[in-house]
Amino acid sequence: MDQFEGDAISSKFLQTCDIPQAPYRTDPFTMVIFGGGGDLSKRKLVPALLHLSGEDELPEGSAIIGFGRLDLSDEGYREMMKEAITDFDEEPFEEQRWNKFSPRLFFLSGHFENDEDYEKLREKLLQVSFASADGRINVIYYMAVPPQATPAIVEKLRQHDLCKGRLNARIIVEKPFGRDFPSAVALNKSLTDAFDEDQIYRIDHYLGKETVQNILFLRFSNSIFERLWDSRYIDHVQITVAEQIGVEHRGSFYEQTGVVRDIVQNHIMQLIALVAMEPPIGFDADFVRDEKTKIFRAIMPMRDDEIDKYSVLGQYGAGRIRDEDVPAYRDEKGVVPDSDTATFFAGKFYIANWRWAGVPFYVRTGKRLAKRITEICIQFKQPPLKLFGRTCDVLEPNVLVLTIQPEEKISLRFGVKYPHAANQIYPVNMVFGYQDTFEMRVHPAYERLLVDCMKGDLTLFVRQEDIEATWEVVDPVIRRWESARPSGFPNYSAGSWGPPDAQRLIGQEGRCWLTE
Ligand code: BG6
Repeated sequence: MDQFEGDAISSKFLQTCDIPQAPYRTDPFTMVIFGGGGDLSKRKLVPALLHLSGEDELPEGSAIIGFGRLDLSDEGYREMMKEAITDFDEEPFEEQRWNKFSPRLFFLSGHFENDEDYEKLREKLLQVSFASADGRINVIYYMAVPPQATPAIVEKLRQHDLCKGRLNARIIVEKPFGRDFPSAVALNKSLTDAFDEDQIYRIDHYLGKETVQNILFLRFSNSIFERLWDSRYIDHVQITVAEQIGVEHRGSFYEQTGVVRDIVQNHIMQLIALVAMEPPIGFDADFVRDEKTKIFRAIMPMRDDEIDKYSVLGQYGAGRIRDEDVPAYRDEKGVVPDSDTATFFAGKFYIANWRWAGVPFYVRTGKRLAKRITEICIQFKQPPLKLFGRTCDVLEPNVLVLTIQPEEKISLRFGVKYPHAANQIYPVNMVFGYQDTFEMRVHPAYERLLVDCMKGDLTLFVRQEDIEATWEVVDPVIRRWESARPSGFPNYSAGSWGPPDAQRLIGQEGRCWLTE
């Protein structure tokens, strides 16, 4: 297939050197990571903070306190994190960068339920933090703990007066935000009892991905796409979030969660909203979030008969991935041998609004699939009249593909004349690759979101009403499947594209999954 590689085009209006390099100033802050010795801290948070420090994006005087049960000194914590970075960071370890960063790391050994430890936390905060002229200290609490621990910690922070007053505090909460609508409401109540809404940063790391943000730029900075962006021209939308990894070391967490809570309620719903939302009246946090909220409210929850017809769950059996044998989900550590937890979901949603009425949004996600890829495909309708004779009764549709990972690219498929042949149409792709055009390091999602939190920018964080609305969409699916107790699991082999029913779901409507 022909490819027109996307080279950077020199602009009459803007030179690359004119593009502002995100000049921002924030005051120094201290980040307290609850679960500071845990997996998220080791794999994502501390590496992200290290890179920000390397790029001079951590304000001078900022500090990081890991809070956790481990019996560690500050020095012991630094050693542990150094090892973690060597093991998990995708970029090579650099001694110089580490030496600049590591003195900012501290550790407080404590128990979440223990009142005394919150008093020790206050002392440590006063000891390591930079205070402004009026004595105020900026603090960011990061909840890198199992979800059930969050309310107890928040309550202790409130009781110990660590949320307001002299401490100018923000709190970052990780998904899952509850496990259904009622628990999400309860979690939120515990947060809002202690913090004001504008102090609460709910993270969905998909929103920090550069190409996810690019969905809005593609749509709203180009007139050529937006004019076609509705049910008159779009046949359907597909979203695939495919992973090759299994549940790794998180078996017991995943047993309580499953794929719908883990990926559909949050990442997939966010992607749907960005594809479907109306243009905001400005780029301020609330303008953008208001438009997304309307989509979450308009996604139609499925009735039981629709769930049976238009959703597919699956669980992986043993198989081969990248030439290696991998175990079945039921043989993973922390998973019960007759587990009914789903690791795959495919389904069809509709958005009940003027723009999208009648346009199916097919979504599919799973672990241990053939490939790691996150992609949105927008398939356009056929032209109104097929002019090119019998050979072309079925035309290849125009498809706009937004690939979010592992490569970041946008491609547009259209038909051209095949040379010399009579009336023969040949599909080609026009491709824009992020990395080819912008030869710079792209901030991984966590770096971007941490910077936004430091700046106090809530645009890429999730609002409570959106969390509630998305639970209302997925709760019926979870309830239906939990009450029916799926039989026949495992129903797909690791390394495949999921259960055959997922192909049928879309195939019965004369369509097929485009991501492969
Ligand atoms: C997390 C899920 O939110 O997203 C994980 O809990 C999943 O199960 C991960 O592996 C996928 O994120 P990414 O950025 O690798 O697509």
